Amino acid sequence: MNNGHNGNNGKMAKALEMSTEFIDSIRKWQELEASAIANARDIISKTTNPLIKMTMELIAHDSEKHRLVQQMIIDSLTKEAPHLSSDELAKLSEGLQKHVEAEAEALRFAEKALKQGELIIPRFLLAYLVEDEKKHLNMLGQLDQFKRHQAESSAGARR
Ligand SMILES: [Fe+2]
Repeated sequence: MNNGHNGNNGKMAKALEMSTEFIDSIRKWQELEASAIANARDIISKTTNPLIKMTMELIAHDSEKHRLVQQMIIDSLTKEAPHLSSDELAKLSEGLQKHVEAEAEALRFAEKALKQGELIIPRFLLAYLVEDEKKHLNMLGQLDQFKRHQAESSAGARR
């Protein structure tokens, strides 16, 4: 079974992502993140307000992460795509499962604190953390689906 998830090295029709236009737009986006980082740093240097500093720090850190992720998107399209074997995933399965549990617990803490919070600043920061924890859980869930997909397609290949 191959529904296109491994379409990078293949006989299949070229995916839209392989086009120079697509890759160029990711590169432009990457530059945009770089100027967002510079702008955030500039704001940080001009304020002593800890809440603004923290907000801009968080955004700058996120933009740095975005640049790394964008680079991996580009690399996966222009260099050899990272290959994740089902054996490799099976080996990590226990650690990943532990991590899922930890993230789920962190999310419960964050949501409980947000529910209890009444003041605007803690609520603002807690809402940010809730979204981050949800994001972590979601990513791990997707990785898990990917793992299942890999297992299915390698079983299919053996048939
Ligand atoms: Fe987390």
